[in-house]
Amino acid sequence: MENNNLIAATAGFVRDTLKNAEGGHDWSHIHRVWTNAKLIAQTEKADPLVVELAALLHDIADSKFHNGDEEIGPTTAGKYLNSMNVDAGIVEHVQQIIRHMSFKSSFDNPAFHSPELAIVQDADRLDAIGAIGIARAFTYGGFKGRELYNPQIKPNLNMSKEEYKNSSAPTINHFYEKLLLLKDKMNTETGKKLAQQRHEFMEAYLQQFYMECGQ
Ligand code: ADP
Ligand code: NI
Repeated sequence: MENNNLIAATAGFVRDTLKNAEGGHDWSHIHRVWTNAKLIAQTEKADPLVVELAALLHDIADSKFHNGDEEIGPTTAGKYLNSMNVDAGIVEHVQQIIRHMSFKSSFDNPAFHSPELAIVQDADRLDAIGAIGIARAFTYGGFKGRELYNPQIKPNLNMSKEEYKNSSAPTINHFYEKLLLLKDKMNTETGKKLAQQRHEFMEAYLQQFYMECGQ
């Protein structure tokens, strides 16, 4: 199958599969990550087909909804790509990218690096910051029934992954615990540039937020 047709078919498959997904990882998230990955790839040496397939398939199945099975994403993506007769090398590479996208899995799996992973990871991180990142954070906080802000509860930068997941801290804390740290984790030059602009927007947002809280 021609690359363009394979990408279009994959986009259709992902959109269908994520029809009922929750707001943080729905098709609109995938679409933004796909768009940003293509943009970043323009200035990097990387295989564009692997970048696009990995961006499209990176959240195809979330271990959170499959009893913590960390392999569910790579397995689902692999089955789909094999059904489309994609080259084994490409399938394997896309699976490795999905496996290593999340912070947690980079501890559990042997180190894997590729320019294509660097690009898709940057594109996913960009979607957690800036105006969209703010919207996603408050959506998540609302879903969890968390306070917007509570000056008595200070951000905690030393939480374990488990404590972090179960924390009921106000959503503003998430900015200090994660979102404001992301710009220094970017891999690519274009990613860094885009992250810087979104970071400054979040800082301006927080200033306005505290001003409106009378601080
Ligand atoms: P990802 O799939 O990007 O690795 P998560 O599943 O952890 O990220 O989070 C999805 C979205 O929800 C992100 O935009 C993230 O910032 C937001 N989010 C995650 N944890 C929190 C939290 N404790 N408070 C507010 N927002 C959160
Ligand atoms: Ni994602």
